[in-house]
Amino acid sequence: MEIMFSKNTFIIMGITYVILLIAFVIGYNLPQKSFIAIPALGGVIATVIVLPFVTIAGSLFIVYALKSKNTLIGYLILAIGSYILVYGAVFAVEKMSDLVRIRGRSEERQKQNDYMNNTIAQVKMENKMFELIQVAENTYYIDCPAKIGIYRLQDDTVILIDSGNDRDAGRKILKIANERNWKVNAIINTHSNADHIGGNKFIADRTGCKIYANGIEKVFCEHPILEPAFLFGGYPNRHLRHKFLLAEPSHVCDVKEFVLPENMELFPLKGHFFDMVGVKTPDNVYFLADSVFSESLLNKYPVSFIYDVAEYFSTLDFIETLNGKLFIPAHADPAVDIKPLVELNRQKTEEVMGCIKKICENPSSFETILGEIFDKYGMVMDVPQYALVGSTIKSYLSYMLDHNILDMEIKDNNWLWKAITG
Ligand SMILES: [Fe+2]
Repeated sequence: MEIMFSKNTFIIMGITYVILLIAFVIGYNLPQKSFIAIPALGGVIATVIVLPFVTIAGSLFIVYALKSKNTLIGYLILAIGSYILVYGAVFAVEKMSDLVRIRGRSEERQKQNDYMNNTIAQVKMENKMFELIQVAENTYYIDCPAKIGIYRLQDDTVILIDSGNDRDAGRKILKIANERNWKVNAIINTHSNADHIGGNKFIADRTGCKIYANGIEKVFCEHPILEPAFLFGGYPNRHLRHKFLLAEPSHVCDVKEFVLPENMELFPLKGHFFDMVGVKTPDNVYFLADSVFSESLLNKYPVSFIYDVAEYFSTLDFIETLNGKLFIPAHADPAVDIKPLVELNRQKTEEVMGCIKKICENPSSFETILGEIFDKYGMVMDVPQYALVGSTIKSYLSYMLDHNILDMEIKDNNWLWKAITG
């Protein structure tokens, strides 16, 4: 029996090796953010050394098999040579896939590291942020994502203005108070958004303090499910029943029952939410809650939450008339002169309204308008943002309808909004 192999067979083997090597090199050099150098290097060396070795060894065996006069021995040697070659090919593919896996793992690990670093940085920032800052004789604020105001009375009892976003914030607030032997006497909630009332229950349970809120805000504080339900306009699904939008319920009294210290005043700040109030301390420091947002927040979230656009404009006008020593918005740096920030928030509101009007030059449904607003500002929609921005866009649509900027029609079971021109 003759073994039918030609020299071309070896050429094909050589080409196969080169192809395997090229495939390996391409796999190795695919774009990657990071790389685990040592195992990868091991893979490269092993492949580059072992692959030629097995190719040469395998080829030699086959050449010897071809020359062999003894058919049986020829087959045997051929089998060994083929095995070595196949082993070489499998080895190369394995090393290649190992490297791809290593790279995949390293990218994943890099992402995890980035996430952890961001989380750690955020925790560090928040810890650092929970700093007590004195701004007047008896007026302080705690620097955190939704600033908490503190007014200290003569007997070292304190009134809190809001309570932070969750129990942990409540814990940090109490730690600050306890370190100074301050006793929390009351919490005034400027409004019922979860990031302002999240510490209510924790603080009230531990201090026995009373909590106060104005009008509808009181009801939302006592039945916090109303917030995600209102924002969504229906039963809030599990993505909306998150502490970001859903605080723990707390027992809240109407703020009219609160006996204010002398020269402390509450004033309405309607617009952002139903019955939001601000607080002026006797030190002439104004806590402005969510009536204005910082420039950086407006850049990050260009459609800031507004419930009632008409009231919002009135509130902005009102803030400009105030004469205070210092103004402290919950989500912006304290300012001696608040007017520039008020103007920026006004401009942003008008800009959003202009965008909606432009979109509605073609009669558009709410969902179309919402999608185009997200696109225009480069925002990424998720469920909470859909609810927050969506609710705000609906408030804009109502305002614009009431002020004859938009018209509407319901056609073929579609509610369309269209700009009034001329
Ligand atoms: Fe708010």
